[in-house]
Amino acid sequence: MSSRRDFMGMALGGFTALGGIGALMAMKKTWDPLPSVKAAGFTTIDLKDAQENVLVTEKWRGKPIFVLKQSKAMVEKAKKAKEMDRLIKIGDDHFMVAVGLCTHLGCIPGYDSANESFLCACHGGMYDGTAMVTKAPPPRGLDIPPFTIDGTKLVLGEQGPEYKKMLADGTTLKV
Ligand code: FES
Repeated sequence: MSSRRDFMGMALGGFTALGGIGALMAMKKTWDPLPSVKAAGFTTIDLKDAQENVLVTEKWRGKPIFVLKQSKAMVEKAKKAKEMDRLIKIGDDHFMVAVGLCTHLGCIPGYDSANESFLCACHGGMYDGTAMVTKAPPPRGLDIPPFTIDGTKLVLGEQGPEYKKMLADGTTLKV
């Protein structure tokens, strides 16, 4: 009898574990919608299947990284706001890439695709689609992580020429 109970317990445990793995895999899918590779401080994201105005959140050295492919209308908005230097050009497309930590006190802002803006729920700070601050208290736009471009891939952690220029002209602070 006890061995039957042991068996039932093990079987149930197995189902629970399987359910847990299934749930984890489903979450992983949501977190990681584009192919990416992580190795020794670098995160490489292939952006060839990125969709306009759909926020991708990746992780680089323990920090959340936002990647947002801009629609044509978003690029026009960025031009008007003189924020093109915050965007990264990969092929014919423009992307916003930023560390997803509010520059006020470090909360993670949420993206509102209908309004193409980020809202930080902690103290009401807001950022536009290029992650430039539009409403205080954040003192500046979201910081841009070191990156380089390799074909359709974005390599986080390596300082390419585009990133060095952003640092030199004050578009971002060093993170
Ligand atoms: S931490 Fe974002 S507004 Fe304060």
